[in-house]
Amino acid sequence: MTRVYLSLGNNLGDRKENLREAITHLQKDFELFAISSLWETEPWGNVRQASFLNLVLGLNVYGSIGEFFARCQAIEQALGKKKQAFWGPRTIDIDLIFWGHEIYRSSHLMVPHPYWYQREFVLRPLLEIAPLMNPGGKSLLFWIRHCRTLFSIGIGCIGKLEGIEVSPIPSLTCEELKGQGLVLKGIVAVDSRDGIACGGKIPWDIPEDRSFFREKTRGGILCMGRKTVERLPHSFDPEERELWILSRTLSFFEQYPRALIFRRPEEIRDVQTDKIIWICGGGEVYESFLSLCSELYITRLLKDYHCDLFLNASWKQWFSCGQVVKHREHYTIECYRRTPDCDFVEI
Ligand SMILES: NC(=O)c1ccc[n+]([C@@H]2O[C@H](COP(=O)([O-])OP(=O)(O)OC[C@H]3O[C@@H](n4cnc5c(N)ncnc54)[C@H](OP(=O)(O)O)[C@@H]3O)[C@@H](O)[C@H]2O)c1
Repeated sequence: MTRVYLSLGNNLGDRKENLREAITHLQKDFELFAISSLWETEPWGNVRQASFLNLVLGLNVYGSIGEFFARCQAIEQALGKKKQAFWGPRTIDIDLIFWGHEIYRSSHLMVPHPYWYQREFVLRPLLEIAPLMNPGGKSLLFWIRHCRTLFSIGIGCIGKLEGIEVSPIPSLTCEELKGQGLVLKGIVAVDSRDGIACGGKIPWDIPEDRSFFREKTRGGILCMGRKTVERLPHSFDPEERELWILSRTLSFFEQYPRALIFRRPEEIRDVQTDKIIWICGGGEVYESFLSLCSELYITRLLKDYHCDLFLNASWKQWFSCGQVVKHREHYTIECYRRTPDCDFVEI
């Protein structure tokens, strides 16, 4: 199965209906797992024509790229795409943007699409449905800024295309992430009752724990929940680390303009990176991700801080082999590795 991203656009006739019809055809053969909003775009290249409606789709495809491309072309023909002027008006255009992380070159097809990084009407909708995607090793935010320095076109989001059903997304598994070369590790500080916060704050401050955190996560990716990020001290600077924020409600984050905001843990599937993804809390984020981590670092305080938020005990099913890496009077730092049924790393 391949995760495929397509860009659809048109500027003739009933533009929404044309898109809806193309998607209905695609859904007969392929599983639609994501659909962006509609984006209205000024024409570019040939500017003497009506504006376009664009969107991006994510499909799960079983089969070869050649068969898939032929199917897209057949749908374009069925919807009345005629031999058109380059960059001219069209009833439907279906562009294959990404075929998994693969590169494909033939006399009639190039994937990734040769213009993906020059088209804001591809990048902006793609950011909505694959916010962690990093083609060419750079974030989509980087490519959007880059694109704006090349061409400036009028583009605006005009809401959703109604009436399209999206397939449920399967949960992530550690085997899948391992196969993709992604490494997730957890890092947490708990009190004597596995408490992690009290009244929305961490009720202790241990300089050595902070420097352990900084040293471990340097050069990696910090993955945090929205509530944890909002509780960070103003002095916090993710310097030398990327910051990913999991949130269904944030659309951008002024305080950390470089942070990537993603909506669902499953969006991690789109990333290609050899950096370590550090799961840094809080409670909800640990619940979503600890089952996918290969290692877990726990700073364990010996005192009870009367916390009202706790680390869910389920982490114990996945991590059995542990060792103390630092032993101090009031706390220990422990490192746990995955239990043998998911053979991540040797101790
Ligand atoms: N002791 C430690 O080591 C440690 C470490 C980190 C944090 N903390 C503490 O933990 C507390 C925060 O923990 P928390 O559990 O309340 O919140 P959290 O996990 O930091 O953030 C929860 C928010 O993250 C988003 N989120 C979580 N799971 C999601 C999912 N599956 N899909 C989409 N979005 C998801 C949602 O944001 P939206 O509501 O925007 O959708 C949710 O409201 C803070 O007090 C912090 O200081 C302690």
